[in-house]
Amino acid sequence: MTQYKIPVIGGDGIGPEIVREGKKVIDAAGEVFGFDVDWIDFPHGADHYLETGELISEETLQELSRHKAIYLGALGDPRLSPGILEKGILLNLRFSFDEYINLRPIKLLEGIECPIRGKTAKDIDFVVVRENTEDFYIGIGGRAKKGEKKDLLEVHRNMYSAKFGLDIETDSEEIAYQIGMISKEGTRRVIDYAYGLAKDRNNHLSSVDKANVLSDIYGFWRENFTEIGKKYPSVQTDFNYVDAVTMWFVKNPEFFDVVVTPNMFGDIITDLGAMIQGGLGLAPGGNINPKGTSMFEPIHGSAPKYKGMDKVNPLATIWAGALLMETLGEKEAANAIVSAIEKNVSAGIVKTSDMGGTNKCSEVGTDVARIVREIGKN
Ligand code: IPM
Ligand code: MN
Repeated sequence: MTQYKIPVIGGDGIGPEIVREGKKVIDAAGEVFGFDVDWIDFPHGADHYLETGELISEETLQELSRHKAIYLGALGDPRLSPGILEKGILLNLRFSFDEYINLRPIKLLEGIECPIRGKTAKDIDFVVVRENTEDFYIGIGGRAKKGEKKDLLEVHRNMYSAKFGLDIETDSEEIAYQIGMISKEGTRRVIDYAYGLAKDRNNHLSSVDKANVLSDIYGFWRENFTEIGKKYPSVQTDFNYVDAVTMWFVKNPEFFDVVVTPNMFGDIITDLGAMIQGGLGLAPGGNINPKGTSMFEPIHGSAPKYKGMDKVNPLATIWAGALLMETLGEKEAANAIVSAIEKNVSAGIVKTSDMGGTNKCSEVGTDVARIVREIGKN
C-alpha cells in the first residue's frame, strides 16, 4: 500500500474544521484506492503566533519543503492587523516554495444553480492560471513626507534578485508608493504552463492584463505571451483587459478555456469566478511548483465569525484535496472526489446553509466520504 505523509496547516477561523472534512474524504479515498495518509499537523496561524511570536520559522519551512504537497485551511484573524498572517504565513509559503502557479478551476458542477440566469454546467468550465510570486505582490513600497528621502527596496527570489534604489523628492505633504515588478523568467514559466494546459484542454488561452494603462509591466507580459505562443501553434489566443474580462466572465463565460493572468488581477477575477461557479463555498485552488512543494487550499478566507460552529461549507476544501491527490499522482482518487462532490450537490439532500440546507460542515464531509467509498467499490 502506498504511504503518503501530508503536512496540514488548519490555520485560523473555520480553517481547522474544513480541513478536517477534507482529510476525512481523502482518508476514505485511500481506503478504496489503496493508499494511506499520515497527516502531519502544523499549528501555524493566529493562536500560535500570539502564543509564541512565530509566524513560520526557517526550521518549519525546511521541514515542509521535504514534502510534495501541503493541505491548508485558511489564514486571517481579526485580533491581528490585516496582512500579518497573510504575508507572514500564506505569501511566505507561496514565495518560499516558489509556487509560481496558482491554479483555480472555475467549473460549475452539475446540480449547482448558477447565479447567472440561463447558464448551466456546460457553459462554465475553465481554469484560471494566476501568476503567484510577482507583480504587486512582491510587497515592496513605502511612504515619503515632503522633502527628500532615499529608499532601498529589494526582492529576492530563487531565480533572481532585484534592488530598487529610490531618490525621492516631493513637495506633496506625503506620498505612498508600491512597486509592481514582473521578470522575464517569472512571466515565461507561468505562461508556458498555461499554454501547455490549454493544449491539453481545448486549445484556447486568454491573457488578462491592463496593458493600455500599465504599459511597462503588462506590455512586457504581452510580449512574452506572444513569444511563448510560437511554441504552441495549435492554441488560439486573445488579449483581454482586466476590467473587460470581469464583464465577459458574467456575459459569456462559455468563451473561456484557460485564462492566464498576473498575480493581482488573478486574485480579483477568481473571486468573481468563484461566484459564477456557485459561490466561494465551492472554489478550490492550488499553489503549484511542479518540481517542488505545492499547497492546496480553498480560495475563500477564514470566516472568523463562523469559527467552531461546524456550519460552513467544506466543499471548496474537499475539492482542493482532490487537486492535492492529483499532484501526488492519485488521479483516480482525485476524480472520485470531484465526482462525489458532484453527486452530493446533485442529490441536494446533505448541504450546508449557504446552499439552502441545514446540515453541518461535518455531515457534508461524511456524505462526500461515503460517496467516494461507493464510487471506489464500483
Ligand atoms: C487569495 C487571498 C490571498 C491573496 C490573501 C489572503 C493574501 O486573497 O488566496 O486569493 O491575495 O492571494
Ligand atoms: Mn483572493
